[in-house]
Amino acid sequence: MELIHGGDWAGFEMEYGTRPLDFSACISPLGLPEGARRAALEALADAERYPDPQCRALRQALAAHHGVPADSIVCGGGAADLIWRLCRTLRPRKAALFVPGFAEYERALAFEDCEIVRLPLPGDFRLTADAAALVPPDTELLFVCNPHNPTGLLAEQSALLSLLERCRARGMTLAVDECFLDFCADPAKHSLVGALAGTPELVILKAFTKTYAMAGLRLGYALCGRAALAERLCGCGQPWPVSVPAQAAGTAALQDECYVNQLRALVTAERRRLIRALEALGLRVIPGEANFLLFYAGDPNLADALRARGILLRDCRNFDGLTAGWYRTAVRTEEENDRLLTALREVLHG
Ligand SMILES: Cc1ncc(COP(=O)(O)O)c(C=O)c1O
Repeated sequence: MELIHGGDWAGFEMEYGTRPLDFSACISPLGLPEGARRAALEALADAERYPDPQCRALRQALAAHHGVPADSIVCGGGAADLIWRLCRTLRPRKAALFVPGFAEYERALAFEDCEIVRLPLPGDFRLTADAAALVPPDTELLFVCNPHNPTGLLAEQSALLSLLERCRARGMTLAVDECFLDFCADPAKHSLVGALAGTPELVILKAFTKTYAMAGLRLGYALCGRAALAERLCGCGQPWPVSVPAQAAGTAALQDECYVNQLRALVTAERRRLIRALEALGLRVIPGEANFLLFYAGDPNLADALRARGILLRDCRNFDGLTAGWYRTAVRTEEENDRLLTALREVLHG
């Protein structure tokens, strides 16, 4: 089975017998919120029971959190589960996405024999208002990632609005992946959650996996502009995609208001510091605003050299539109980032 994404700690541990320092997956460096950890452990007492197939308590908590109706929310085993269910449900004949971009949109669309239109981002990777004109009029589903993976760049507000207008005018579904938005400085300013009420075409994808470090528990959700789509997404796929501990952990995590503020402060400070340090090493850094940074090093063997030192970096050569020499690093704690920088210094400058 081909490995497409980062986060292959298991392969590393099989080879080396030790735990790597993983910068290849972009997860909250604060780990599970304490309340979520406790809730997941307590929920194990109910492991023999089926999870609530409708995730009622979790959806109610999410409805209050986002100020949207509970019947417009669908929970799944990570945002990736929702991406696949969305493509399975809509079965679009033509869909568009921006490249380089997250591979799962394309994989899920290809499975439905969909014609995929790859819209190349410009040289500076910024999504600007002229992007809307590139979307073919007969597109049925458009994926936008904000902030974008792997660049970490936020779409310009005017770009989002013109894409939204185009989708409304043409009745095409706009799926906005906001899985990394909580890591940015002012998420409310960039989120399209406020547009859901007047836009039946809109679907927003969110992930507990990233923000609350639940990649292994698997929990994500979709907020839909129309309840009918939420209903269809819910009915597409297996009935119990979210385990008992994952539902409990998600519900508890939403109660911890300090966690996300603390996370954002840490990531903002460390991202700034990493940008400066990576540039000082002579690397071209894309000034992303999420919990990861895309950079060009030129050296095609950099990830291998770091791996030999126990550090995993995301080699981005398999992103459509990038080449060997491009890498993505997560932004982690000060101590972990220092270890990354020390290793990079050794490899790049001896
Ligand atoms: C942009 C983006 N969306 C969605 C996902 C899927 O996340 P999850 O682990 O919640 O399935 C990822 C995972 O890396 C991602 O990068």
